Amino acid sequence: MRCELWTSDTAEEHEGEFDRWLRGEPCSTMPVTVLIAEVDGAPVGFAEVGLRSHADGCDPRHAVGYLEGWFVHQLQRRRGVGRALVEAGMAWAREHGCREFASDTWADAQHSIDAHQRLGFERVDKCVNFRRDL
Ligand SMILES: CC(C)(COP(=O)(O)OP(=O)(O)OC[C@H]1O[C@@H](n2cnc3c(N)ncnc32)[C@H](O)[C@@H]1OP(=O)(O)O)[C@@H](O)C(=O)NCCC(=O)NCCS
Repeated sequence: MRCELWTSDTAEEHEGEFDRWLRGEPCSTMPVTVLIAEVDGAPVGFAEVGLRSHADGCDPRHAVGYLEGWFVHQLQRRRGVGRALVEAGMAWAREHGCREFASDTWADAQHSIDAHQRLGFERVDKCVNFRRDL
C-alpha cells in the first residue's frame, strides 16, 4: 500500500523504512504511529500519523498531529474506511496533547482534497515547495 501511495520510492526503500518502524526506530524524533484498517482480516488501508513541532496554518505554540500518509485500497474506497482511519489518527493525536490536526496532499489530487474537506480539514494555502543543496 505504501508503494501505491508513494510511487517515487522503491519497494526496497519502503521495506527498509517499514523495518525501521517495526524495530521502533522510525525516521522521526517525535512520536509516530501506523494505523491499519482491515476488512475480514485483510489489510485494506493505512494511515501514518505523527507529531510535528509546527505545521502551516496551525498555532506555532503547540505540537500538531499530522496525517503523514493516508491510503485505502481502490476496491474499498467510498465506504468510510478513510474516515475511520483519520478519526483514529485524530484520537491518537488528542491523546498526545494536540489541539490541531494537519495534513497535505498533491495539488492535482482533487479526490483527496475533497475527502480532506469532507472530513473537516480547511485549506490553508497553495504553496509550491522548493529545496536546493547548500
Ligand atoms: C483519500 C482516501 C484515503 C479516502 O479513502 P476512503 O476510504 O475512500 O474515504 P471515505 O470513504 O471514508 O470518505 C471520507 C469522506 O471523503 C469523501 N470522499 C472520499 N472520496 C472522495 C472522492 N473521490 N470525491 C469526493 N469526496 C470523496 C467521502 O464522501 C467522505 O465524506 P462523507 O463521509 O461526508 O460522505 C482514498 O481515496 C485514497 O487512498 N486515495 C489515494 C491516496 C491519497 O490520495 N491519499 C491522500 C493523500 S496522502
